[in-house]
Amino acid sequence: MQNFVITGGNRLSGEINLQGSKNSALPIMAGAFLVSGECVLKSCPVLTDVYSASRILNRLGCKCRLSSGEAVIDSSGASSFEIPDELMREMRSSIMFMGAILGRMGECIVSIPGGCELGSRPIDMHLASMQKMGVEISDINGKIHCRIPSGRAHGTKISLSFPSVGTTENIILCAVTAKGETIINNAAREPEICDLCNFLRCCGAEIKGDGESRIVINGVEKLHGCEYTIMPDRIVCATYIAMTAATGGEMIIKNACISETEPFISVIEQTGCGIYLADNRIYVRKGARLRALKDRIRTMPYPGFPTDTQAILMSALITADGTSVFEENIFDCRYRHTDAFVKMGADIQVMGKVAVVRGVPEIHGADIEATDLRGGAAMVIAALSAEGTTHLSNIYHIDRGYEKFEEAVSSLGGKIRRE
Ligand code: EPZ
Repeated sequence: MQNFVITGGNRLSGEINLQGSKNSALPIMAGAFLVSGECVLKSCPVLTDVYSASRILNRLGCKCRLSSGEAVIDSSGASSFEIPDELMREMRSSIMFMGAILGRMGECIVSIPGGCELGSRPIDMHLASMQKMGVEISDINGKIHCRIPSGRAHGTKISLSFPSVGTTENIILCAVTAKGETIINNAAREPEICDLCNFLRCCGAEIKGDGESRIVINGVEKLHGCEYTIMPDRIVCATYIAMTAATGGEMIIKNACISETEPFISVIEQTGCGIYLADNRIYVRKGARLRALKDRIRTMPYPGFPTDTQAILMSALITADGTSVFEENIFDCRYRHTDAFVKMGADIQVMGKVAVVRGVPEIHGADIEATDLRGGAAMVIAALSAEGTTHLSNIYHIDRGYEKFEEAVSSLGGKIRRE
């Protein structure tokens, strides 16, 4: 098991070139399974979750090669429709292959996916949606066996009770080669959904309305290969903004996705952190001590404040002037990072979905454990702003979403090493 050793106190300054989005890359890699040809994915981040997706593709009979910043996927030899348990458990996005495998093979065997522990993360909406498209689902020895008797899913109208990101993606992946028209009402509107649809359109799919609550998909017989550039990662972008806000200094984030990061930017600006936007660059500058936020920070589906940036924003507000109140509305257990912050000297009280953060003048280093991907990244930010040295364990969580994290932080002047 690897750890980060971080010594805080340095102001971070410099430039960062933003990596491609993990939460786009994973469903897009699943989408490449639908194509009986070669897809070249540019700006594909090099992450453990991307390696997991690559292992799934290879196991299904495809050829997936990852090199720096590029994934080349040839699915012409697809031969299997079963994902073994150990690969399903590596990440939540393994479930995204269900829609794609059904779309291509008419049958699939999967199991409950892994991923960050953020409370209960059922897949009931995924399964119910597949059933509406003509998929028969049974439990065989603890595995989920999905089968389309006619071999091809059919279009239908699906109204989601909640705009689930993964469910929306799974329906799209199954519907693009289904027979007829599929309509998704109350669809998720996250930018990564649009990125998946843009990729699928490049492959010949007919999709309208992505980015809005009603998505209409007209199934086509076949998809063809393409070259596609994955969008920049808006959550990693928010991470570097919060890092500057917490440690002081100045940062230029290049290749940034400004409008997609807007829900985070508009909140952090209220803390007094200076943000200047130009073309696809974000310039961040922190001067005086941050101010606590007057309004409650409520996590919501896009375009609301993203749950994935809740811990990240909190890491910057631990030492702000005044009290900030968070309300986590997407996951029922997404405050596990707060124990580590308290160990570092933060004053935080959690009551159900609410966390009250009373700003303290400073925090100190401690021995702490990363609890999940974004919580772990938030702990790195806190450690960089703390007095003294922090030993952070379980950093495999962070490696799932941040490309060459310690190299990037070191290049900005942060003291961090992996051991
Ligand atoms: C995606 O997860 C992201 N993951 C998450 O990012 C992100 O936090 C989340 O969307 C919300 O924005 C990827 O894109 C790979 P959901 P997903 O389905 O698709 C409940 C990160 O750090 N639900 O929108 O799993 C669910 O329990 C990760 O990069 C059901 O009840 O999110 C949750 O409470 C963490 N039944 C809520 O919906 C279902 O069948 C939102 O989940 C599906 C979901």
